Amino acid sequence: MKEIKVGILGCGSAAAWHIDAVNREPGSRVAALCDIDPPRLRKAARLVRGTRPTLDDDFVALLRREELDVLLVLTPPALHHPQVRAALDRGLHVLCQMPLVTDADEGRDLVLRAVKAGKILQVAYPFPLKGVYRWASDLIADGKLGDLEHISARLSHNWHGATAEWQRNPQSAGGILSDSGGHLIDLLHVVTGSRIREVACFEDRLDLPVETFASSLLRFDGGRIGTLTVVGRGPYLWQITVVGSKATLVLDHVDQARLIPARDYDHAPPAAGRSQRNLTPLKLPPDVTPMGHFLRAVRTGDLHASNAERAIAVALVTEALHRAATERRAVKVG
Ligand SMILES: NC(=O)c1ccc[n+]([C@@H]2O[C@H](COP(=O)([O-])OP(=O)(O)OC[C@H]3O[C@@H](n4cnc5c(N)ncnc54)[C@H](O)[C@@H]3O)[C@@H](O)[C@H]2O)c1
Repeated sequence: MKEIKVGILGCGSAAAWHIDAVNREPGSRVAALCDIDPPRLRKAARLVRGTRPTLDDDFVALLRREELDVLLVLTPPALHHPQVRAALDRGLHVLCQMPLVTDADEGRDLVLRAVKAGKILQVAYPFPLKGVYRWASDLIADGKLGDLEHISARLSHNWHGATAEWQRNPQSAGGILSDSGGHLIDLLHVVTGSRIREVACFEDRLDLPVETFASSLLRFDGGRIGTLTVVGRGPYLWQITVVGSKATLVLDHVDQARLIPARDYDHAPPAAGRSQRNLTPLKLPPDVTPMGHFLRAVRTGDLHASNAERAIAVALVTEALHRAATERRAVKVG
């Protein structure tokens, strides 16, 4: 098996778990690390198993010098476009942390370059790879919920208390919508198989220059409506509810799934309570990690594993949400 040589660009908080994931993946190794902050570079280097990686503070020099197969991009989002572009143009497969880009045109440019170079461009969206969400997507695609009639999602976590400086910068995709909101938007698209087409939104910054809270109304393909709320201060909780003509699916932050058949819609509690038992099948598909998914695709040359189109859809919805909040009106996506 040919070894996959991995370069990692950006050795901040996301680096540790990425290095760990490469360490665990047979046939791949971290061959090079790059960061402009020397202590972070040295700290990351200590986590690498096996042969010592080369260390660099200059990404362009690293690309020119090292013979890498793939690059993991873990820098602040405003840097992703030029860095991913340079890596694709150098002939590397790229796994980039979300958000891929700060605007949709940059995303389109990267997708075109990846196709032209015949390389995989993947964005690390971990949730849709988890067994429970793959199960939920299949359930909806198989028509088990009937027609989807209403879709809602709410997420809270203590984002406000744990943000890096760039996360508070509106020019750098700061704010909770680009961050946790991006995960939720992508998850809604993937699980429901339906895209968000129009939005209205209120944002509250609290004491930051970017939004800490956002509550929005959504219109999906086919005209169905829904809601999306991201709460940047509070406990880690989330829930996605998809109401269908045959059944309702409720997914939550501890990966529980509840399926409530339409015949129980009339029941007031406690009858409804009894019917809302956890109906997650015992044999969910296994969880897949973004790194495992990416490196296996690189090994097999599976270009279908590129998912950057989804990141463009997320960027378009995020842009529309911000515009809707600023202009205080409903805005079409794209
Ligand atoms: N998928 C997730 O759940 C998840 C979780 C955390 C972070 N992220 C994403 O990962 C990315 C990084 O986030 P983080 O929390 O690690 O940020 P961070 O601020 O902790 O780390 C970023 C690192 O990039 C380095 N850097 C900045 N400019 C550079 C340059 N020109 N060349 C080389 N290095 C440079 C910084 O010195 C820093 O060490 C972001 O896109 C973020 O949204 C995703």
